[in-house]
Amino acid sequence: MAFPQTRLRRLRSTSLLRDMVAENVVSTSDLIYPMFVTEEGQSSDISSMPGIRRHTIDDLCKETDRAMAAGVKAVMLFGIPNAKDDLGTQAYATDGIVAKSIRALRRAAGNDILIIPDVCLCEYTSHGHCGTLRDGDVVNDATLELLARASVCYAEAGASMIAPSDMMDGRIGFIRNALDTAGFENLPIMAYSAKFASAFYGPFREAAGSTPEFGDRKSYQMNPANGNEALREIAEDIKEGADIVMVKPGLPYLDILREARNQTNIPLAVYNVSGEYSMVKAAAQAGWIDETRVVDELLVSFKRAGADIILTYHAVDWAERRQRS
Ligand code: PBG
Repeated sequence: MAFPQTRLRRLRSTSLLRDMVAENVVSTSDLIYPMFVTEEGQSSDISSMPGIRRHTIDDLCKETDRAMAAGVKAVMLFGIPNAKDDLGTQAYATDGIVAKSIRALRRAAGNDILIIPDVCLCEYTSHGHCGTLRDGDVVNDATLELLARASVCYAEAGASMIAPSDMMDGRIGFIRNALDTAGFENLPIMAYSAKFASAFYGPFREAAGSTPEFGDRKSYQMNPANGNEALREIAEDIKEGADIVMVKPGLPYLDILREARNQTNIPLAVYNVSGEYSMVKAAAQAGWIDETRVVDELLVSFKRAGADIILTYHAVDWAERRQRS
């Protein structure tokens, strides 16, 4: 059947019809809200990420309350420690900022919130790289030990899941093994599997003070030119025991998400990163785009491309707007 019998506009003629045939829908339970927590005495704005703050632990609990009231049920935590060193020891210290935050949030919110710490060393190392260094390069296998320590430390503090973002080879299997040995065999791992060496992390690095002191992350994060390799990374992480795999950043890599969806049946997450957030905010503040509609459109584009879970700094504002409408 073709035109004039077929008229695709028929099902677009009213909003009830459009909703009935909508193929994808974003729900608050799909969202993870990333938050920064600081050891400074006061919370502070992040100039490159309007609306996002570095929170003290008290303010982190308040902001989590706001998230929960809006229906957002998961938060990701990034720590900003006062002291950094070569080995990133504050990442796995029992009284480190992330471990303390997890305990405080758990006390405040009980089991009504999923607490998902990002596991990486770059916010904690003096040189800003995601592992330990030898001759100016990140040493893979020695780094695994430290990532495993951080993972177990966060598990003991009460994390609901852990999310390694370092891009070392073999980390998922290594961390899985460490968690199991420590008695956390039921704690899920969300792997940042296809994480690209991206300029879209710029505002995050300002927020977390994690810009590498020298060089870049290209020897461990992926080349943006590579799609097949991203699928290999995902396949490796699944083999090593990942429960959820992630593609990051989001918008420039929707093709990877779609291909991963076609090739696997594991839950898929996408990270709508800081630079993607800041571009929307800046254009909206200039009056060039309608923020509400743009955010709706980009969140549904992640679902359409195959994501089950979306990490986004827009999460709570989006959920609050939806509650109001
Ligand atoms: C830590 C980490 C980064 C992001 C998430 N985890 C920074 C990086 O790899 O440089 C970026 C998140 C964002 O830009 O919103 N390795």
